[in-house]
Amino acid sequence: MRLLGIFGHPISHSLSPKMQNAAIKAAGLEKEYVFLPFDIFPEDVASAVESLRVLGVKGVNVTIPHKEGVIPYLDELDAQAEAVQAVNVIVNENKRLIGYNTDGIGFIRSLKEDAGIEPRGKKVLVLGAGGAAKSVSAALASAGAKDLVIVNRTIKRAQSIGEIARKIGANARAFDFSSEGVKKEIAAAHIIVNTTSVGLYPPNQSLLTDYLEYLNQDQLVSDIIYHPQETLLLKQARMRGCDTLSGAGMLIYQGAEAFRLWTGVEAPVHEMRKALEEELKTVD
Ligand code: ATR
Repeated sequence: MRLLGIFGHPISHSLSPKMQNAAIKAAGLEKEYVFLPFDIFPEDVASAVESLRVLGVKGVNVTIPHKEGVIPYLDELDAQAEAVQAVNVIVNENKRLIGYNTDGIGFIRSLKEDAGIEPRGKKVLVLGAGGAAKSVSAALASAGAKDLVIVNRTIKRAQSIGEIARKIGANARAFDFSSEGVKKEIAAAHIIVNTTSVGLYPPNQSLLTDYLEYLNQDQLVSDIIYHPQETLLLKQARMRGCDTLSGAGMLIYQGAEAFRLWTGVEAPVHEMRKALEEELKTVD
């Protein structure tokens, strides 16, 4: 039996163990794998990563606050992890540790499969410029999104994400919320995605409250937040006639890609979604 798991701090609220163990069961791999949460303090990251080699752990997810901190202790990064300098999956190939970033791929797959939208050639407005924005923007650029507009409270961070997207081949521009051009950009976007924690807690906040008149029914508005399933932003967008997409799909598909990387087996996403939805019912 091989061990899988997730490194984070704190970790007790992570939904990945339920989702991944449901996937292991549905794929008939219960005799081969088990997935456990590991609460890793920041000062222990180096020895935690080294323990993967020593104990023969097949792989782990990596979440906040370790996505960047694990990098110096890995042997190799895939292109996406290299582009955003953040890792959410480690795979142990005979003691060689390879870092991947499947967050952005998860978002793209959710766009395609849950919302039925192909990002190629689209104009996308990204709200926020933290780690999640970086993964989502790089994946959008790799998937052929034509025009990325990054809007952030702090414009400097938006500019640095723009640089990453441009290196991959997209047009990218940066704004802060006070720029006059923002209203026009919101109205012109095909896809809008909130990558910030605004709307997570307290749940009655939305970055677009002052811009609702610029939303229209030809747009898809998405949130990477999955709890609540419908954030205030998504509710506002739905009221304006937009299509909406919650962050649940991104969480499921980043995990599905991780599962495939560890086991070599296509992930049973239907069962992963069911496990996630059941678990979400139990959290307040
Ligand atoms: P993560 O790595 O999870 O994306 P992060 O790096 O802390 O987290 O980034 C959080 C993002 O949410 C940033 O874009 C942040 O804006 P700043 O770069 O200006 O800090 C944004 N954010 C968080 N709280 C916000 C708020 N109340 N209003 C506007 N933006 C907010």
